[in-house]
Amino acid sequence: MSAPDKPPVVTVDGPVSSGKGTVSQRVALQLGWHYLDSGALYRAVALLARRAGVDAGAGRRLAGLMADAEFICQADDSNWARVTLNGEDISDAIRGEAVSLAAARLSAVPAVRLALRRVQAAQRRWPGLVADGRDMGTVLFPDAVAKFFLTADPLVRAGRRHRQLIAKGHRATLADIVRDIEERDEQDRNRPLSPLVPAGDAVTIDSSGLGIDQVVAMVAAAVKSAMAATAVAGSPVAGTATPNPLKNKK
Ligand code: DC
Repeated sequence: MSAPDKPPVVTVDGPVSSGKGTVSQRVALQLGWHYLDSGALYRAVALLARRAGVDAGAGRRLAGLMADAEFICQADDSNWARVTLNGEDISDAIRGEAVSLAAARLSAVPAVRLALRRVQAAQRRWPGLVADGRDMGTVLFPDAVAKFFLTADPLVRAGRRHRQLIAKGHRATLADIVRDIEERDEQDRNRPLSPLVPAGDAVTIDSSGLGIDQVVAMVAAAVKSAMAATAVAGSPVAGTATPNPLKNKK
């Protein structure tokens, strides 16, 4: 349950290219709330590691690299957030496939996940936070006022990611992206720590046949009713008896 003295959080978890980043940013902009792309944080560590010549096995040293770093994430009304690390704009540098694969490996290192918990928790600021990732609703913000799990067919997701990468000037073939998505889904779902699973009280949305505007509207409406329910009953919609029109929507 969301403590009244804590800023409210909306969590949007899901696999790669499920649309969670675009949806979360739009909802954050509509609400005027802060935005956390937690995947960008893992990518930022991967970038630091590559630059420092440290590999994913060196969990403690990697976590140390992040301890003193200033990480800022801002919603950008685009596919990807604006991200700065120690004042450097790394928004594009963290999106290439090499960094993606390194981030996936790193995210399985317990010391890295633990170190990044503090950085993520610190993003919870007034008037509220929209956080997207894999374990936002399950591990980081279990008391979120509303939780969503976005998913889509792997081929649909690969097509989306391919278009995004090409638009940003990265080189990639669709076949490579399909393989990469399958590999990352496998890693994310099967790691022992914070695996990719929907929170028990999350609303699942399959966006395969939906436009982004439709998904944003569904999420925004559910957040609105969750906030209203919280204001009236002093408790969040997720996990309460308050009827949620989107509950278990596939
Ligand atoms: O969402 P993304 O593709 O930008 O995430 C990059 C990697 O970080 C991905 O392999 C999964 C991992 N990740 C994670 O383990 N936990 C999160 N909360 C967010 C991302």
